[in-house]
Amino acid sequence: MAREKWGTKLGFMLAAMGSAVGLGNIWRFSFVAGNNGGGAFLILYLLFVLIIGVPLLLTEVSIGRKAESDVVGSFKKLAPGTPWYLTGFFGIASAFLILSFYAVVAGWAMFYFWNYLNGSFFAQPAAGYEGAFGQFISHTWHPIAWTAFFMILTIVIVLSGVKKGIELANKIFMPMLALILIVLAFFSLSLDGASEGLKFLFTPDWTALSNPSIYIAALGQAFFSLSLGMGAMLTYGSYLKKENKLPSATLGIGLMDTFFAVISGIVIFPAVFAFGIDPSSGPPLVFITLPSIFEQMPLGGMVGLIFFFALILASLSSSVSILEVPTAYFMRVFGWSRFATSTVMGSIMFVMGIAVSLGFGVWSGVTPIGERNILDSMDYIASNILLPLGGLSMALLVGWYFKKSEALEATDLTSSPIGSTWFTIVKWVAPILIIMIFLNKIGII
Ligand code: TRP
Repeated sequence: MAREKWGTKLGFMLAAMGSAVGLGNIWRFSFVAGNNGGGAFLILYLLFVLIIGVPLLLTEVSIGRKAESDVVGSFKKLAPGTPWYLTGFFGIASAFLILSFYAVVAGWAMFYFWNYLNGSFFAQPAAGYEGAFGQFISHTWHPIAWTAFFMILTIVIVLSGVKKGIELANKIFMPMLALILIVLAFFSLSLDGASEGLKFLFTPDWTALSNPSIYIAALGQAFFSLSLGMGAMLTYGSYLKKENKLPSATLGIGLMDTFFAVISGIVIFPAVFAFGIDPSSGPPLVFITLPSIFEQMPLGGMVGLIFFFALILASLSSSVSILEVPTAYFMRVFGWSRFATSTVMGSIMFVMGIAVSLGFGVWSGVTPIGERNILDSMDYIASNILLPLGGLSMALLVGWYFKKSEALEATDLTSSPIGSTWFTIVKWVAPILIIMIFLNKIGII
């Protein structure tokens, strides 16, 4: 059977942007920035997106397009007889870890959507938004039912095939989400005490840089937000026709993704300070901040309804790209149908998601890594360790195993003035930075 292909270059762009923009920009960006002191984190994050993220995004997509295979198959094809294909198994492992908590958080968003649909979040519930949210996530099976619902939607899109399912879902709702966020940003800025939030986000407190955790947090956020290092972008790249041009496409994806993160910050942090919420509330941060914004806004209930609808769609266009990674691999090696593969993989992730969800209730005492609950532990291993290692491996493949001319050809940079800069980054700058951040975290530097 011929491999599936994107309908148009725009189809690929939308799907890749859809993959990048999701809960990572709004939910994860806000709480990680909040935990890491705001301004200094934002600067590091932007720096890493620019000097590591975007160049490696180009690298990752080009590996997929050149090899026309899944995460494991691509490395076997391009570097036969080397252990490079192990990168693919790291990617598959991080897909399982990430989607199992991603589906839980997306399930929370669906619960919010439901509460705006039936009007019960138009005004503060008796327990307040924070209390209502706390009750919901600590319930044993309510949030799990929403996780299941989200996972089923993800599976249905993935099993309906590359073109029809994924391209379509992205065309309408990305612009809509951007529009709502811009409106929300203006509103949030008009709140009393907004300037405190802007100061938090845009005035770096440089002493935060003496904590080695901030570097790995910013690196992990850059990878997570750009969908980088897992092989999701590689797999999407493998459905590209050869004639598409990559550098402008990947720069566009990087800019769009960063725009969504920064605008989310401008929405969330003024409100965090205006409503007296602790910026280091962790994963619940946006879920306790946003409803307070909507409550204060004229027609806020309607805005909340549309916002959560768009957020769910943005999450779906991201979750399908994660499920696509193991699906593409297992379809090829087992020869299963797309239907069977995506259903089986999605179901396993759902079962892992049950543990994540219980981690906010009956299993809240389970802290596998340090002080972290189940979600934070899985997120830490996947986003802060596996994804950067995946990116490192891809950079080493293209920077060292390929000849320079081959690398430039694979990325459509052969006759481009930025070709040599890109190659130097991929060969030297990005690997050295990633290794330094790891060594620094372990305490060696
Ligand atoms: N980038 C997405 C977000 O910000 C999440 C995501 C999709 C992802 N595909 C990925 C993260 C691959 C890491 C790897 O919500």
